[in-house]
This record gives sequence, C-alpha cells and structure tokens, in this order.
Amino acid sequence: MVLPVRLGERSYDVTLRPGCLRQAGELLDLDRRVLVVTDEGVPPEYAAAVAAQCARPQVVTVPAGEGSKSLAVLENLLLAMLEQDFTRADAVCAVGGGVVGDLAGFAAACYMRGIDFYNLPTTVLAQVDSSVGGKTAVNLGGVKNIVGAFHQPRGVLIDTETLSTLPGRDVAAGLAEAVKMGLIADAALFALFEDGDPMSHLDDIIFASLREKARVVSADEREQGLRRCLNFGHTVGHGIEAAAEGALRHGECVALGMLPMCPPALRARLLAVLERLGLPTGCSLDPERVLAAALHDKKAAGGTVTAVLVDEPGSFRLERMTAEELRARIALVVPEKWCQREPSPLTHEKMSQGEPSPLTHSEGRV
Ligand SMILES: NC(=O)c1ccc[n+]([C@@H]2O[C@H](COP(=O)([O-])OP(=O)(O)OC[C@H]3O[C@@H](n4cnc5c(N)ncnc54)[C@H](O)[C@@H]3O)[C@@H](O)[C@H]2O)c1
Ligand SMILES: [Zn+2]
Repeated sequence: MVLPVRLGERSYDVTLRPGCLRQAGELLDLDRRVLVVTDEGVPPEYAAAVAAQCARPQVVTVPAGEGSKSLAVLENLLLAMLEQDFTRADAVCAVGGGVVGDLAGFAAACYMRGIDFYNLPTTVLAQVDSSVGGKTAVNLGGVKNIVGAFHQPRGVLIDTETLSTLPGRDVAAGLAEAVKMGLIADAALFALFEDGDPMSHLDDIIFASLREKARVVSADEREQGLRRCLNFGHTVGHGIEAAAEGALRHGECVALGMLPMCPPALRARLLAVLERLGLPTGCSLDPERVLAAALHDKKAAGGTVTAVLVDEPGSFRLERMTAEELRARIALVVPEKWCQREPSPLTHEKMSQGEPSPLTHSEGRV
C-alpha cells in the first residue's frame, strides 16, 4: 500500500509493506552518504539491513529512551555528519521509534539548513503517527519537543514485520494514537477497535491512521488550525507524562488523556477499548502536578488551554478551558485520593515484574 502525502513540492510517499526495509535501496535514494540513526533498544539488524543498501552508510546508535532527544545527542549526530564531510546532497535515515525519528529528523533539518530525511519507523507509535507530518524536535530544560523544526521526510517506509520484536506494552501504547485518530476523524477506524481483535487488523489500523494523519497534515502542515485536532488526549496526556517522570509511555498518557475529553457514554466505550488493549484507565499521580504540567506553557494565556473534545467518534470540537475546568477533568483519571494510598497494584499484564508503576485500571471509576 502506498499513501501519498500531498504537500506541493514537499510531497512524499508512505509505503506500507511487510519486509519493505529490505527494499529500502529500491524505494529510496540511498546512493550517497547516509547517516543511519538508530537506538540501542532497536534490534541492530534493522539498521544494518538499511545500511547494507546505502552507497556510503554511517550508522550511529544512540542510547534508547527519551533522554536521547537532547541537544547533546543532536550535536553528536551533527558532528558525525561533519566528520564524514556530509554535503547538502547527502541524507539521514531514521530506523527506530518516535525518539529516533524526532531526533534524526531534527538533525537533518539543521545540518546545512536542511538535508534529505527518510523515516523507517519500527514502533507502532511511529508507524501510525510520528513518522508522518514533519514534526521534528528535541527536549530542553525538562520541556518536551520545545526545540525543533518542521522538516518533511522525503519518504517513509513502514515495515510491519519489525513490530514482531516490539514488546507488547509498546504495541498497546502505540495503538492509543490510532484509537485517537479513529475518535477524531474516522468512526470506521474506531469500530475496528470496538468490534474485533485489533491485532488481527494491524495493517488496516496502521494504514487508516496514516491516511487520516496525512489528510490532516496536507490540509494544515504547520498546525495553524485543523492539525490541532491531533492534540486530542494530549493536553491532559502531556501533564500526566511530565508528572510520571518517564514511568509511562507517551501512548499510555494519551490513552488516559482522551478519557476526560469524552462525554460519559463515549467514555464508557473508550474505557472498554483501552482495557481490551491492556492500556491504563487511571493512574496514581499528584493531580496538581499533572495540572501544572498540562498548563506549563499556557500561563501567559491566563491559565486557559484550548482542549480538543470528541462527542461522537469521527469528529471533534475545540473548547477553551480554565484551569478549574481542566482540574475537574483530570480528576476523572487522576483522582486525588489515589496519590495518598500505597502504590497501586500492578495490573498491566505486559509490564515487567516488580517495576514500580503509577498505572492502574479503574473499572467503574471513569
Ligand atoms: N513527531 C511527531 O509528530 C510525534 C508524534 C507522537 C510522538 N512523538 C514522539 O515519539 C516519541 C515516542 O516514540 P515511541 O513510542 O516510538 O518510543 P521510542 O522511540 O522510545 O521506542 C520505544 C522503545 O522501543 C524500542 N524499539 C523500537 N523499535 C523496536 C522494535 N522493532 N523492536 C523492539 N524494540 C524496539 C526502542 O529502542 C525504545 O526502547 C516521543 O518522544 C514523542 O514525543 C512524535
Ligand atoms: Zn502523541
């Protein structure tokens, strides 16, 4: 399946095909110097397979995790290109999840004011969401994605075979973004989660999510209007992600963040979907920390935020919300009393044994 992303002269194709990593040399222009960026958690054979198809590859493996989205690691990538005499005719290739994609994409955006970038995502989150749209960034001063650029890839290869090595917890977390896409833009996609086993429709789910993302990005490349719908679940989600200090995956936080932005009937349906996927529906964090983090860069606007709400799957609306309103909604998934109790029992089946976690399921609570 090939999905064109139409952005005038910055248009590109997303190719979704099992095994397409091994065809990267035919599908992309790798006949030049290519910085292949991956991380230590990605099975090394994926980057090696891509490098084997480049004329002059240079593989850089950064530490796994959000910490690599830093100016220091970015500098290392830029230095690697400089030392290898990369020119504007050369390219960067990301082989990994959203961390590698955001970091490598930003390196490509910065080097010589922008060189070609290819994204070969290997996590569900990156395949359904982050690899398309051109947002690249690193974190600074504890604030996520605060330094970055819009830099569209020249091509994206989605090889779903790479997901066979991805831990179940990451698969579920990535699917939260696809659930989001169904809720804001495609009722039929949401139905794939409600009616059947999502794992048996994984390729369809990834394709439908990308199609909607491509449509939104084509209509509003620089997030001046429509693209803000993609923030559904992310206002509260970002607050939770910051307060959890790395204990929760981005997609898990988005799952939690979507619940309070739906009316009760839809919330119950979403709750059932999240539980089926093994995603959290409540967490034991300090709700005031979540609120403060959710409002982080909004203080100048008098403590209000524009939140995305969904009343029925397939459409959304924007609403300005005061801090008070947001506090009440956060309480639906981060109840105050929970943070006064002992740490909640582990209920996430894919979580490694003994890992302390703020996750919990909240049957009947939300
Ligand atoms: N640019 C965007 O539009 C956008 C959108 C959403 C999220 N993001 C960013 O994406 C990041 C999260 O991405 P993520 O969830 O992919 O996390 P990630 O990149 O950290 O990957 C999760 C873990 O999986 C490992 N991994 C990757 N592929 C694997 C595979 N095939 N098999 C086994 N292990 C594998 C990684 O090493 C890592 O440890 C965040 O930084 C977030 O800000 C960006
Ligand atoms: Zn997200």
